[in-house]
Amino acid sequence: MPEMNHADIRGRWALVTGASRGIGRQVAMGLASHGCNLILHSRQTSGTDELAEELRETGVSVRQVMAELDDQNQVDRLIAECGPIDILYNNAAIMTRYTPEWLSTPAEDFRSSFEVNTISVIRLCHGFLPHMIESGWGRIVNVTSGIQEQPELLAYSISKGALDKYVTDIAPSLAEKGVLVNLLDPGWLRTDLGGPNAPNSVESVLPGALEPVLVNDGTAGKLFRAQDYR
Ligand SMILES: NC(=O)c1ccc[n+]([C@@H]2O[C@H](COP(=O)([O-])OP(=O)(O)OC[C@H]3O[C@@H](n4cnc5c(N)ncnc54)[C@H](OP(=O)(O)O)[C@@H]3O)[C@@H](O)[C@H]2O)c1
Repeated sequence: MPEMNHADIRGRWALVTGASRGIGRQVAMGLASHGCNLILHSRQTSGTDELAEELRETGVSVRQVMAELDDQNQVDRLIAECGPIDILYNNAAIMTRYTPEWLSTPAEDFRSSFEVNTISVIRLCHGFLPHMIESGWGRIVNVTSGIQEQPELLAYSISKGALDKYVTDIAPSLAEKGVLVNLLDPGWLRTDLGGPNAPNSVESVLPGALEPVLVNDGTAGKLFRAQDYR
């Protein structure tokens, strides 16, 4: 049974982008443990084969989808292929290379970072929002970053900063319609993106990463910090 003040997500459908590894894999496992059905995204469906099998054994329904989020045609196809969903967990992202000579950050780093981390995330929101609004219930979690004062990673950090602004601007009007849009800062974790020197294990993202999905008191436009719930 869901905890008091938590939404009951049993039987709901969630799309988790970047579910093949790292934080997305944990989020998918966490949602399934609450009885939520999953659409697992990665760049190749084979990337989520093992996880899909594992989750099906827990009794939830699972679908697998693929898309390169650097390509807006593939984003459009992904939205059409998924159909209506209740929960969108925008987790997939790329981190551009560490550039000590940051005044020379190549234009391509800004382009690729904004394409995957900002534009595709926003377009996924816009693709799935109409059904959520119509049904009067929805949850969107956009994964951001607590990264600060590291100009060497500027192309990455400002793509996340734009996402933060997007969420704070759209959240209030959508909350009135039962659709809660929030941000998650997972903390610095040992994943392919976070690297081996991060202080936190990937598992430490749970249970905090589920809070912006389970939230049931109208909270929207908030930055949830996963490490606060350990
Ligand atoms: N790890 C940290 O310390 C940390 C800190 C702050 C924020 N974050 C954020 O947390 C989220 C997850 O990070 P992570 O550490 O779990 O990353 P990760 O281990 O590198 O996993 C990235 C996931 O995103 C998918 N992905 C990457 N580029 C893609 C693209 N161009 N098109 C489609 N899918 C793509 C990957 O799919 P494939 O397997 O198919 O490549 C994979 O499933 C990201 O938004 C990241 O910015 C992470």
